[in-house]
Amino acid sequence: MIPSGTMKPPRVKLPLPIIITTICVLLFIAVLYAERLSFPHSSSIFKFKTCPRKHTKSKSNDKKSEEVFANASWTDDRFDFDPEECNVANGKWVFNSSLKPLYSDTSCPYIDRQFSCVKNGRNDSDYLHWEWQPEDCTLPPFNPELALKKLQGKRLLFVGDSLQRNQWESFVCLVQGVIPEKKKSMKRGRVHSVFKAKEYNATIEFYWAPFLVESNTDIHIIGDPKKRIIKVDEITERAKNWTGVDILVFNTYVWWMSGLRIKALWGSFANGEEGYEELDTPVAYKFGLRTWANWVDSTINPNKTRVFFTTMSPAHTKSADWGNKDGIKCFNETKPVKKKNHWGSGSNKDMMSVVAKVVKRMKVPVNVINITQISEYRIDAHSSVYSETGGKILTEEERANPRNADCIHWCLPGVPDTWNQIFLAML
Ligand SMILES: *[C@@H]1O[C@H](CO)[C@@H](O)[C@H](O)[C@H]1NC(C)=O
Ligand SMILES: *[C@@H]1O[C@H](CO)[C@@H](O)[C@H](O)[C@H]1NC(C)=O
Ligand SMILES: *[C@@H]1O[C@H](CO)[C@@H](O)[C@H](O)[C@H]1NC(C)=O
Ligand SMILES: *[C@@H]1O[C@H](CO)[C@@H](O)[C@H](O)[C@H]1NC(C)=O
Ligand SMILES: *[C@@H]1O[C@H](CO)[C@@H](O)[C@H](O)[C@H]1NC(C)=O
Ligand SMILES: *[C@@H]1O[C@H](CO)[C@@H](O)[C@H](O)[C@H]1NC(C)=O
Ligand SMILES: *[C@@H]1O[C@H](CO)[C@@H](O)[C@H](O)[C@H]1NC(C)=O
Ligand SMILES: *[C@@H]1O[C@H](CO)[C@@H](O)[C@H](O)[C@H]1NC(C)=O
Repeated sequence: MIPSGTMKPPRVKLPLPIIITTICVLLFIAVLYAERLSFPHSSSIFKFKTCPRKHTKSKSNDKKSEEVFANASWTDDRFDFDPEECNVANGKWVFNSSLKPLYSDTSCPYIDRQFSCVKNGRNDSDYLHWEWQPEDCTLPPFNPELALKKLQGKRLLFVGDSLQRNQWESFVCLVQGVIPEKKKSMKRGRVHSVFKAKEYNATIEFYWAPFLVESNTDIHIIGDPKKRIIKVDEITERAKNWTGVDILVFNTYVWWMSGLRIKALWGSFANGEEGYEELDTPVAYKFGLRTWANWVDSTINPNKTRVFFTTMSPAHTKSADWGNKDGIKCFNETKPVKKKNHWGSGSNKDMMSVVAKVVKRMKVPVNVINITQISEYRIDAHSSVYSETGGKILTEEERANPRNADCIHWCLPGVPDTWNQIFLAML
């Protein structure tokens, strides 16, 4: 991936810019033409992003090249989304009041109460009308019919934690509206849930595995983080249920972040829980992710299965991160952070670099759905006090207390819809 912004346009006087512009245009048209003939993306010889976009805006006396632009009826100079060419994290949230989510928490029956913000009393709605616009490319809107066509005869499985469930429910809700009642079904389990789109013979599934690797606290949740022990080298038993799937989407992050250090155990719990070692969290995370990577590399046939990894979803629990000194967590926030490249303490860069390093060394190509930066801006879009505790929505009184705000999970509809918009564009 070429990070955008690294290609600065050379500052050269006429006539070179015109020549470059013309070449760029010709290359661009050639590439568009080639893409239509459906060459695989990876075989695109031309990295057309290397044509500096500023040239397309440079004032030119060359009537011909200007006409080409005019005739192509481009409203802007961004390229169609291509994960290899476009750094999707580089962009901005644009408010558009006529933007409507494809579903609501009443029209989609599959949303956990935890994410059903409107049902739970959220009455400000600006957070529903922000659109992510990458700087260098256009992100196609989520098209449910296209999504289902891509999934025809396939199994899509999301594996991970509650944020992955957030993304899974978003995906199901985005597509379910175009499927007639009788042609869809949902079976929810404690660990494994399956949504079926019968017409398309497709399933969209979720598998609970918050560390991906095994631990003493995922299926039977242990509240006290100090008692949590992670078997950083053990994945095979539960991963048996992740085989035979066409598209796998993994995540794991937030469960590792309960402290600076974490208890890691090698081998089986059969010998008891003794013998664990306390490791710095990024070190334990690296061991865990390597176990996952080895499983993928030794089990997954990349010709049959595509593998994705969703990066960490930022928590917004320190309002000082975005300069709101009097605020508490994300409580009462109704607007995204404007500051470009805003990055808060809820997204750990060491953990991110572990993901980047592990994925880079894998045999099976892993497509990273990099949602961290875009979500960092969205302090306004968490479940906040419109969540639930113990199966009950918060009372008016509880809602007035900012301490009760859930600034980890996201309202649905909301930000995870954009994650899936990116995911679908990569699919
Ligand atoms: C652009 O379109 C106009 C008519 O709309 C046509 O006269 C002109 O030749 C076209 N220019 C190029 C470069 O295709
Ligand atoms: C706002 O969203 C609507 C509906 O998706 C779209 O038609 C329109 O072009 C958008 N406006 C802007 C300025 O992006
Ligand atoms: C929205 O909810 C808040 C409290 O959650 C309340 O103070 C306010 O009056 C409500 N606004 C409307 C328009 O209902
Ligand atoms: C439905 O999809 C499954 C894979 O998910 C495949 O094994 C099966 O043959 C498909 N059935 C039909 C009728 O297409
Ligand atoms: C995992 O797969 C096994 C069979 O391979 C099955 O018996 C078990 O119920 C599955 N577990 C879940 C949680 O789906
Ligand atoms: C995948 O396909 C390629 C080319 O079609 C082939 O060379 C390779 O052996 C296949 N890999 C596996 C694991 O089947
Ligand atoms: C939160 O916002 C509501 C409505 O804008 C306001 O009435 C309330 O005072 C705010 N609460 C805090 C603690 O800022
Ligand atoms: C995701 O994007 C951020 C920048 O927004 C970058 O720092 C990070 O390395 C990327 N993560 C991965 C795993 O590629």
